[in-house]
Amino acid sequence: MNFSSVFAILICYFLIFNNNIFGQVIISNKEDRKWWKEAIVYQIYPRSFKDSDGDGIGDLKGIISKLDYIKSLGVTAVWLNPIYSSPNDDNGYDVSDYRNIMKDFGTMADFDSLLKGLHERGIKLIMDLVVNHSSDEHEWFKQSRRSRTNPYREYYHWWNAENGKPPYRYSLFDVNGNAWQYDSLTDAYYLHYFSRKQPDLNWENPKVRQEVFDIMKFWADKGIDGFRLDAFQFAAKDTTWPVFPKGFEKKFTLYYAMQGNLHGYLQQMYNDVLSKYNVMSVAEGAGNSFADAHNLVDNDRHELNMAYPFEGVDIASPGGYSLLHFKEVFSRWDSAFQDNGWLSIFLSNHDQARMVSRFGNDSPSYRALSSEMLTTFIMTMRGTPYYYNGDELGMTNIRFTHIEDYKDVQTLNGYQHEKNIGGDLDKFMKLKAFESRDNGRTPFQWNYSRNAGFTSGTPWIKVNSNYKTINEEQEDKDSNSVLNYFRRAVKLRKEHLVLVYGKYELLEKNNPDVYAYTRTGDQEKILVLLNFTAHDAIVGIAADITDAKLLLTNYQYLPKTSKKSITLGPYESVIYQLKN
Ligand code: NOJ
Repeated sequence: MNFSSVFAILICYFLIFNNNIFGQVIISNKEDRKWWKEAIVYQIYPRSFKDSDGDGIGDLKGIISKLDYIKSLGVTAVWLNPIYSSPNDDNGYDVSDYRNIMKDFGTMADFDSLLKGLHERGIKLIMDLVVNHSSDEHEWFKQSRRSRTNPYREYYHWWNAENGKPPYRYSLFDVNGNAWQYDSLTDAYYLHYFSRKQPDLNWENPKVRQEVFDIMKFWADKGIDGFRLDAFQFAAKDTTWPVFPKGFEKKFTLYYAMQGNLHGYLQQMYNDVLSKYNVMSVAEGAGNSFADAHNLVDNDRHELNMAYPFEGVDIASPGGYSLLHFKEVFSRWDSAFQDNGWLSIFLSNHDQARMVSRFGNDSPSYRALSSEMLTTFIMTMRGTPYYYNGDELGMTNIRFTHIEDYKDVQTLNGYQHEKNIGGDLDKFMKLKAFESRDNGRTPFQWNYSRNAGFTSGTPWIKVNSNYKTINEEQEDKDSNSVLNYFRRAVKLRKEHLVLVYGKYELLEKNNPDVYAYTRTGDQEKILVLLNFTAHDAIVGIAADITDAKLLLTNYQYLPKTSKKSITLGPYESVIYQLKN
């Protein structure tokens, strides 16, 4: 054997060997296991969860008293909406001191016990980080507005009035929809994308960035496990303040999201903070395109861990929605992220009305079944599930009919705006009964007692009168309840890693009633069938299910199957493990 043939053999060995290794690398890349991918996040809205001291407002001690309940759900992480000091213009999303606890919620000692209690139960804690804006009662803003030469002036965005009116910017919560608020003290306007009491921070200022990174370190040093970055996609602005086209507010994210040096700021945040701790990070929103979302979360970007896109939840409307559209959206997002980046899966949160009222059917006959069906969807899709407190009971919209019952700044200011422009207030109230955020913020329904056991005092917002039939105490005892179904679905997700990492494939794309898909991994294949309607629905099954194992159903009996099809009852959901 001459030198060149030995060399050729070596090359062949090298290639084959490396191919194998390469193959494994691909698999392990695909299944690049991370705790935050495998997490099941339970979102707690502290104001409405459990009140411990009778002031009508949920608090940290209240959450502590329910830690065993949270553990019993099987969830592995909790996302807490903001608990920092705040004058509560927007229920804590207006922070006046990032290193302190809101008085209504308790003390730092309560926080420390909560964190300890969660960790003792193997549950991680994700905190909301609200740094697109602060409260106007934050010391930085108090200083900033004092004089044009104050050292904190550049912490916010100001426009001096002698330069005329600033180019129009839309505000999501302002009564007049105007994001520039005039302040006579210094004869200037400040910017607030949300309410007047939520001035936007100036991220171009390196001092602001340093302040935020120090705040993040403060909480990470306490041992928290992650940050949810509130409205951060809007944090960077084009501070040349160009004039936007008329009507831009209808698509304002095109003009507000992913501007300026946003990615530079996130990379600095990653280098200075996120990379130094074992914390996860989730963006609120995902920009305007897949490219925007990938730029936030792809592995090689070194920015955030996962995106939280709204296209899916935005489908619901008072007139209903099309399942074909729903399937198309979720399938498109899954396929765009199958190889790189990571997503969240959710159908509700504190900014949405109740999941079952928007996506299911909250009539007495179908509330439980449709809640369970939607839970099945969330627990069997790729991405990290975020599940909103109360949905595990199948809590429903309260549908207030009087504006006085609402507490949410967005709804109240929206109403005032409608009134000011002589708009149709009846129409507004009907829309809000469907979509107001307060629908999702009514107190958690613990038991049959007064105020659903949420508080011994007067609740800050009305309790839904259906608590006599929908409550935790009752559902806990009933093995067929929505609550116990949720626990089974969570357990199943934890036992089948394929539900986290497996390839997703949509079946029967054009079936208008049934959402059917498979999740496939190296070892296992799972079939999920969900009837999104209140009538029987047929799904033809390409896969052979004769030897399939039924893993979970929300019905008391087995689905009606023939050789070629399965008939699902109203809102029936089934999960099969297929022969691989
Ligand atoms: C998004 C939060 O989820 C919402 O509740 C809040 O009102 C705005 N950001 C402003 O912080």
